[in-house]
Amino acid sequence: MQQRHEPADSLDYFPTPPWATRALCERLSLFSPLHLMHAWEPACGEGHMARPLGEYFAQVRATDIHDYSGTYRAQNGICNFLNPAEWPQDLRGKPERAPDWIVTNPPFRRGEEFVSTATAVARSGVAVLVRTSFLEGKRRYKSLFEPKPPTMVLQFVERVPMVKGRLQKTASTATSYCWIVWSAKIRQRTQFQWIAPCRSRLERPEDYSEDKESPDQSPLW
Ligand SMILES: C[S@@+](CC[C@H](N)C(=O)[O-])C[C@H]1O[C@@H](n2cnc3c(N)ncnc32)[C@H](O)[C@@H]1O
Repeated sequence: MQQRHEPADSLDYFPTPPWATRALCERLSLFSPLHLMHAWEPACGEGHMARPLGEYFAQVRATDIHDYSGTYRAQNGICNFLNPAEWPQDLRGKPERAPDWIVTNPPFRRGEEFVSTATAVARSGVAVLVRTSFLEGKRRYKSLFEPKPPTMVLQFVERVPMVKGRLQKTASTATSYCWIVWSAKIRQRTQFQWIAPCRSRLERPEDYSEDKESPDQSPLW
């Protein structure tokens, strides 16, 4: 088993079960040609979201503020997403090289800052996986949702179990999750949609293998 290096302070590392990312990509594919596009996962951890993104997008870039070691490390740039001065050179200052989509599961306490940073950069859109309770709150409504209404909220009907520090197939959770999507192309009032049960269809045994190979898709653009 790979040795993991947990960050000393909590960076809210909760790996995402890959089926939850496939559910998003199926939905985005209905209006955005992902197979021709670039995605950036800016809080990638050990790549549990970046890998399934690579099944749908032409290219995926994955970075994180912390080096989690493991086989995915070589693919990552290590940088603080909230400080663009730290971004890899090729991600800075060239609008034509900007990612089409930024897709991530941000650290819970920095979710709003991630959305603001991401929507300023992504050319086609931003999708964040968050606790459904992220939709609540007067302060966040005033600072985020009122000035920048999402294009859609995709609410999971099934629970998406996430465990601190590791991916666990048998985990359960009392927490509800949704994807919130801001499209840079579609102007509409916020649409609410359910993600119908899909875990059994989108989950693969290899998703839970400890010894992951690097993705076939080129991670850089
Ligand atoms: C909820 S986990 C999600 C991990 C991965 N996206 C996934 O879905 O499996 C949050 C991740 O955000 C990273 N993170 C926290 N603060 C960050 C920052 N300022 N810039 C980049 N990554 C950050 C953590 O190291 C952690 O890997």
